[in-house]
Amino acid sequence: MLVLALRVLLCYLLVTVQANTEKVIFLGPSSITIPNISPGLEQLQLNALSPSRNKLETQLPVKFPTDEEPRGTQHWYLIEGLEEGRRYEVRICWVATQPTAFWLDVHTINEVFETPELISALAIYSEQRDRSVPRSPEPRQPDAAATSKSLLFLRIHSAADFFTTNQTLMNFPPDVDADIILDPFLLNVLPRSLGPTAVYLVVLAIVGWFLSGAISRWLWKINEPEKEHSS
Ligand SMILES: *[C@@H]1O[C@H](CO)[C@@H](O)[C@H](O)[C@H]1NC(C)=O
Repeated sequence: MLVLALRVLLCYLLVTVQANTEKVIFLGPSSITIPNISPGLEQLQLNALSPSRNKLETQLPVKFPTDEEPRGTQHWYLIEGLEEGRRYEVRICWVATQPTAFWLDVHTINEVFETPELISALAIYSEQRDRSVPRSPEPRQPDAAATSKSLLFLRIHSAADFFTTNQTLMNFPPDVDADIILDPFLLNVLPRSLGPTAVYLVVLAIVGWFLSGAISRWLWKINEPEKEHSS
């Protein structure tokens, strides 16, 4: 019953903020052992999200949709440090003054490496990043032993979603300021960041329930003499 109430509440909250939020919900995949060989995942130069680093403030380039790229530009991230079987949500939030369409999807390593479309898209993105991001002077040292991790690839598509007579803006849509947030669910029911709001609303609902009962009983009572009077 409480779970149901929370779910209804959650849907309500999500619908009301949807204007500039897009999200994907997924379960932590089973851990896989990544052999410590080069090139490893570090070489992909992807930004990573993890429960300890759960927010990326970023500026995402966008494109207007074309026939070849109906969802605009692709961006790839790693989601690390997941717990197997736990539910998570990744949200992207952006300001309503920069109208953009976002699509989020997550893929396991196997999916990516076994799907030609995904692996080539990831390779192209990684190569572009490699050129634009200066290599860190000290590359992250991989652990000596092979590590076992639960991780996923996150792919974000971003397409400009506005029209203006200003030709400059139509040719070069500006980058969109966006926050990408990883949010673990509490008891696999509720995103952690919504916890306090949900608790507040549930308390409010319970108080409201008892209060309305009390008020209706009270109204009944003051109605009672009137009824006797009229009969
Ligand atoms: C078009 O937009 C660009 C970028 O915001 C701006 O610098 C330029 O002045 C605008 N041009 C016109 C004609 O409004």
